[in-house]
This record gives sequence, structure tokens and C-alpha cells, in this order.
Amino acid sequence: MIFRPAKARPGPEAVAEDGGAVPRHVAVIMDGNGRWAQARGLPRVAGHRQGAEAARKVLRAAGEAGVECLTLYAFSSENWRRPEAEINDLMGLLRFYIGAELNALHKEGIRLKILGDHKAFRADVAKMVDQAVERTAGNGRMTLAVALNYGGRGELVRAAQRLAARAAAGTLAPASIDDAAIEAELDTAGLPPLDLLIRTSGEHRLSNFLLWQAAYAELLFVDTLWPDFDEEAFRGALAAFAGRQRRFGGR
Ligand code: IPE
Ligand code: IPE
Ligand code: MG
Repeated sequence: MIFRPAKARPGPEAVAEDGGAVPRHVAVIMDGNGRWAQARGLPRVAGHRQGAEAARKVLRAAGEAGVECLTLYAFSSENWRRPEAEINDLMGLLRFYIGAELNALHKEGIRLKILGDHKAFRADVAKMVDQAVERTAGNGRMTLAVALNYGGRGELVRAAQRLAARAAAGTLAPASIDDAAIEAELDTAGLPPLDLLIRTSGEHRLSNFLLWQAAYAELLFVDTLWPDFDEEAFRGALAAFAGRQRRFGGR
């Protein structure tokens, strides 16, 4: 035999009531908060506040559907380009929501994981995030991964630096670096493979989110602005996913 059969890729495992597959890992680019506020003559922070409510709804719907991991893009490494006042508002909201939601998350058996480098955030916020991660570290029902000061290129750069350091130290043979070796250095190491990536607000781009992980994810772009996205919208996204045929290069 000339070609070895490709190793079967772990696919979505759970099966929804209607028979379609439930994605194990769903990621969301929560976009459109500013436009939602603007359309109502409200300050942008009102959009972010309503966006946090949408996140809460989607987390609930994801848990109910049996999604193992929900990843939310909350602040990109490029979002530092925004005015300081808006960044401060976002930090304040993050603090508020961790304070308000941590007990509930923990009680529900949800583990909080952070993608990106949140250490660059205000010290009080970074500390609060660390404490929340620590407190929920032993939970196993579901993972909520929040991308904070995250960028896919930066994540790959950090992975390359760590692998290069080991190669330079002589503990890693360059030829042994494979997909798995790179994956093990990404912020998403240990999470299920990304099955579904949703972006709201009608923008059709990745904006530096999960560049490696999205290689074979199903992409879903919806026009709904994030603050209007709710449980029903999320279930609609799962239904769209269930109708997709994934081939991973096969036939
Ligand atoms: C997404 O909404 C939230 C963050 C990026 C933090 P935006 O703030 O980008 O909203 P639009 O895209 O300006 O409408
Ligand atoms: C992507 O949205 C980042 C988050 C949702 C956190 P942006 O609003 O920052 O993306 P661009 O600037 O429109 O590409
Ligand atoms: Mg935006």
C-alpha cells in the first residue's frame, strides 16, 4: 500500500435530539456591541454590557446542548488600539462579571480557562482572573475559555519561541516538531478540537482569532449584532452545524 490511511480525526461525539452532531468546541467572535449601542443612541459601554448578558445566555445554551468547551473572544491583542476610556470600561465590566458570576460558574461545574496574556491587564483585573481560574480549575462538566489580550499570531509566535528555546538547549530535535508538538504549546492545549467558529455582526473575517485551530472548523457568519444573540440564536447555530458535512480533506 502506497498511502497509509489517514488517522481518523476525533469528531464531534454527542448527538443532538434531532440526530445531528453536537460540536464539542464552539468559539465565538462576539462582535457588534458598538453598533448595537450606536443604533440606540447609547454609549458604546451599554453595548458591551448587553454583550456580557448575551455571553451569559450563550454559555447556558451551550451547557444545555452538551458542548464541552465554549471559547469567547472578549479582547483581542489589537483592541489596545481603542480609546483608553473604552478599554477601562471593558476592564470594569470584566471585573464586575467575574465578581457576579464566579460562584454560579463554580456551582455549575464550569472550569474557566484564559487564552492570551491577561497579565497585561490592570493588576486588580489580572489578579481577579487568576483567582477565578484557580478556583474553578478542578471543575469538569464544561470549559469556558475566554480570550483576553489574545491574538492568533502572537499565540503562534510564543509557541515558536518555546520550541526554539528547547531546540537551542538541545532537548528537542527540530525534525521532531510536528502538529501535535505545536498544538501542545498553544493556549488551547488540552481543549477539544475546534468544531464551530461563529462571528456575529455581519463581518466576514477572523480578526486574528484561533488561526491554527480554525484550520478545519466550520465557520458561521451571522448578521445579528452580539448583544442580540441569545439562546435561540445559539441553538440555530448548532442546527446549522449539524447540517454541515465535514470532510477533512477526504471524500
Ligand atoms: C465587540 O464589539 C466587543 C469587543 C471587541 C470588545 P465591538 O466593540 O467591536 O462593536 P463594533 O464592531 O464596533 O460594533
Ligand atoms: C474582534 O472584533 C475582537 C473581539 C470580538 C474581541 P473587532 O471588532 O476588534 O475586530 P475588527 O477590528 O472589526 O476586525
Ligand atoms: Mg467590532
